[in-house]
Amino acid sequence: MDTINCSLLLISVCALLWGVAGQYEWQIRDAFDEVRGKMDKINAENCYISHLDDLYLPEDSVSHHPDVKDINVNPVFPNRTAMLHLHNMAMNRAFFWSYILQSRFIRPAINDTYDPGMMYYFLSSVADVSANPYINASSIYFSPNMSYTSSYRGFFNKTLPRFAPRAFRADDFNDPVHLQKISTLNTFYVEDLGAFDPSSLSKDYTSEFYRTNEWYKLWLPDRVERRHDTKTTYQVTIRYANNTNETFTFHGPPGNDESPGPVNWTRPYYDCGRLGKWLVAAVSPVADIFPRHTQFRHIEYPTYTAAVVMEMDYDRIDINQCPLSDGNVPPNRFASTARCKETTECEPLHGWGFRRGGYQCRCSPGYRLPNIVRRPYLGEIIERATADQYYNNFDCKKIGWIQRLPVKWERAHPFLRAIYRDRYYEYVNATAGPDALHTERVNVYEVLNFIRGVQPSNCSKYNPTDLFLNGDIAFGAEEQFENQAKMAVRLANFISAFLQVSDPQEVFSGNRVADKPLTEDQMIGETLAIILGDSKIWSAATYWDRNKFTNRTFFAPFAYKTELNTRKFKVEDLARLNNTDEIYTSKPWFQFLKQRWLTNFDALERFNLEMKLRDDEMGKYLKKNEKYPTFYRAANLKHGHWTQPYYDCNGHLKQWVITYVSPFFGWDNVKVKLEFKGVVAVTMSLMSLDINQCPDKYYVPNAFKGTDKCDRRSSYCVPILGRGFEAGGYKCECLQGYEYPFEDPITYYDGQIVEAEFQNIIADKQTRIDMFKCRLAGAAALQSNFLVLMCLLMVIFKLSCIICNEIYQFFGRYVQDTANMGLVGNLLKQLKSKEFREYLMSTHFWGPVANWGIPLAAIADTRKDPSFISGKMTFALSLYSLMFMRFAWKVQPRNLLLFACHFTNECAQLTQGARFINHHYLQGADKTDIKGKK
Ligand SMILES: *[C@@H]1O[C@H](CO)[C@@H](O)[C@H](O)[C@H]1NC(C)=O
Ligand SMILES: *[C@@H]1O[C@H](CO)[C@@H](O)[C@H](O)[C@H]1NC(C)=O
Ligand SMILES: *[C@@H]1O[C@H](CO)[C@@H](O)[C@H](O)[C@H]1NC(C)=O
Ligand SMILES: *[C@@H]1O[C@H](CO)[C@@H](O)[C@H](O)[C@H]1NC(C)=O
Ligand SMILES: *[C@@H]1O[C@H](CO)[C@@H](O)[C@H](O)[C@H]1NC(C)=O
Ligand SMILES: *[C@@H]1O[C@H](CO)[C@@H](O)[C@H](O)[C@H]1NC(C)=O
Repeated sequence: MDTINCSLLLISVCALLWGVAGQYEWQIRDAFDEVRGKMDKINAENCYISHLDDLYLPEDSVSHHPDVKDINVNPVFPNRTAMLHLHNMAMNRAFFWSYILQSRFIRPAINDTYDPGMMYYFLSSVADVSANPYINASSIYFSPNMSYTSSYRGFFNKTLPRFAPRAFRADDFNDPVHLQKISTLNTFYVEDLGAFDPSSLSKDYTSEFYRTNEWYKLWLPDRVERRHDTKTTYQVTIRYANNTNETFTFHGPPGNDESPGPVNWTRPYYDCGRLGKWLVAAVSPVADIFPRHTQFRHIEYPTYTAAVVMEMDYDRIDINQCPLSDGNVPPNRFASTARCKETTECEPLHGWGFRRGGYQCRCSPGYRLPNIVRRPYLGEIIERATADQYYNNFDCKKIGWIQRLPVKWERAHPFLRAIYRDRYYEYVNATAGPDALHTERVNVYEVLNFIRGVQPSNCSKYNPTDLFLNGDIAFGAEEQFENQAKMAVRLANFISAFLQVSDPQEVFSGNRVADKPLTEDQMIGETLAIILGDSKIWSAATYWDRNKFTNRTFFAPFAYKTELNTRKFKVEDLARLNNTDEIYTSKPWFQFLKQRWLTNFDALERFNLEMKLRDDEMGKYLKKNEKYPTFYRAANLKHGHWTQPYYDCNGHLKQWVITYVSPFFGWDNVKVKLEFKGVVAVTMSLMSLDINQCPDKYYVPNAFKGTDKCDRRSSYCVPILGRGFEAGGYKCECLQGYEYPFEDPITYYDGQIVEAEFQNIIADKQTRIDMFKCRLAGAAALQSNFLVLMCLLMVIFKLSCIICNEIYQFFGRYVQDTANMGLVGNLLKQLKSKEFREYLMSTHFWGPVANWGIPLAAIADTRKDPSFISGKMTFALSLYSLMFMRFAWKVQPRNLLLFACHFTNECAQLTQGARFINHHYLQGADKTDIKGKK
């Protein structure tokens, strides 16, 4: 006894030790650990002396770079929207600087250097970061002696040796300005990286000795040999307020359709000596025409003079740990590091960043979740499991019996159709046209038909109020067009910053001169850059309030494009339309924002600046900018306003659109108080919005909410991204305890197919809609015993035939005995007839055979755990069956069907009884023992 106890103790101690020590041991080292290790090795101190290769991560540690070529073709998934925005911001800035640096050619009358001043560069970089929480640094690096500036007196036709303003978000936790001691993340450091002691090469971002400057080398220095055709050109037609038209062609970064495209990505790198973090940068080149100021246009040629660099934290970029597949194409270093088991399939989740577990394991086709599991297994939980948990959980169960989807299908039974027509009555006598928008229950097809029916050719025929849809039609726009809205917020943020921080009247010591006020060309360029930088934005505009722009009563550059992939753009100054009912200041959204921001600006976000400028024009060292103010207030995303969706019938876009407007602010005349100065607007096409038909909470303002056609009892609706403004952008997934019974590479019903079949049943065409249900998962237990079931069915069938005969004979005898031959003869004929036989073969006959349920249930129960068996019930049932067997045998004529039924039951019950006895009395002792211990 003692030895047993001892060995038991030993075993449990071992198990305990092994369980703890092995919690993560079972996980083999993979690509993730390798990259994590590389990252952890480098810190702010050792990065100067580490090998240069250690400051970079491998190329494939960022996968799925957004590709501009298919942005309008394929959906952009949430796991890449932040990167896409980084990409678009880089493109936006590259276009703006290219435009503004070349805009001197539109203004030949101006002989002074026409370039923006230094403060413009600084505040523009700040706005890139401050308006975009995902972007952590923004900069523009000029090639040596290629940046002209208007910021120094007598500096005409001279260049700065190096110029590189860079803004980044700082942690202001310890800043004396905030007494709260919390990070606001609204403090921005700006410095000119072009100011350094010329003798220290390691500070020169163009040199080989700079630690990490891959972003510089991607595009610069640009070695074109005085060729005039090496840079892509873009054309913009400007229609001024005085109704003169001007076409201006400028050089810019490569086009979206070119290879390489406008933006190149760096590998992840350690930002040594600067931010001290792992960053990834999107880099886009700025084009200009060089050499400048020669007076001879023929010797000037376009070249890249600077690179715009937008950086984001590497650890905020989602990785995809799933195995390679169509949705996960190489190169991807982290492919196949997910820990999904064989019966499951891996699916990436977004928002995890550089962390393990950004995926879920859903069941493969032919498998289902165990009944006690509600949702697919989360990667994060799998990764944290112990070996024991891992090997015993996270599996899916096999579905017993896989059906084929029928190839040929038929029209629905009228009864079924009636049910559908009753449940979805809004689809039966549908209201068409604009009225479809105002019915009590939404008929998706009619609403979409109406919306699609409005065309440029017929839009003027509609009642103008019909061309404004309710806001709830565009549900999801705020989320899906967030990147686009941020472009407007960025420009509004920049204008606010410039109006509040830069003072044209300021006098500096030395040669420095203050920036001039914003010019018309700068505003046109900024507005134009928004549509060039984001292909989902169809038009952008900067609307200045009356008398707020220098020397102008009204000023509103409005940039738009009329087709998707184009290099021709148009700008129009809407100040031209200045009678009372046309002028933009009377538009409802303008009035709305103006009223909202009339007096109280406390709600605006406060952005703090820490600027370091060059000491003089040559820039030997940096010095702190001590000028006041060191902060500005500007709107964030929430301070803007989304309009209703509308059809732009009188405008240039001629399609259904939705607009976001963001306000900007500057000082009033006496410089004591902020005031509203105008708004920046961006307009997107409603058709690129995905609609969400799934049910939602009662307060969610979604017009299409709950218009999915999923079978509510067995499945639930999940939206699918990228289907656009169409019905069917969802899938019906099986609820907990249900399974997808068909042989199919997917395990859900696709919304588009469901919708099509639904339309068929309403139109009384061939349909399969009634099959689009999930099967109760438990049902498969019996079905897996298919052979037994088949045999049973055959026995029953055989027996029933015998019974028929008996009944028939019985009637026959009865008939012979009676006098009323005529009547009974008729009855007999009817019984003999084909209809009766069919009746016997039909379900109506099988109904009474239902007492077969008892033996079938008992057979099914033999597969279950014996602890569920009720001894008393089994005993009662076997007695009951015994009695009925005797009865069925003795009764005249013999009822063989009844006999068979009870015989089967008897056998089943006896088996159960035997298992019961075995469980409770033969093996019983040790079981109760364990229970007792617990
Ligand atoms: C610019 O033009 C003004 C007159 O329009 C002239 O006085 C001045 O000298 C010019 N400056 C240069 C640098 O050409
Ligand atoms: C119209 O306005 C533009 C920009 O303000 C200006 O360059 C142009 O010379 C003007 N044209 C006429 C005919 O006044
Ligand atoms: C400028 O172009 C617009 C069309 O874009 C045209 O309607 C207008 O007449 C043009 N103005 C002049 C002065 O040519
Ligand atoms: C990015 O730059 C690298 C190195 O110059 C080049 O090989 C690659 O083709 C570029 N890729 C794109 C998409 O521009
Ligand atoms: C500008 O500088 C270049 C090179 O220093 C010189 O060749 C050119 O004549 C200058 N242009 C003017 C207008 O001063
Ligand atoms: C992003 O999500 C899509 C769709 O789920 C997937 O195909 C793609 O592989 C994911 N990419 C990453 C990097 O996770």
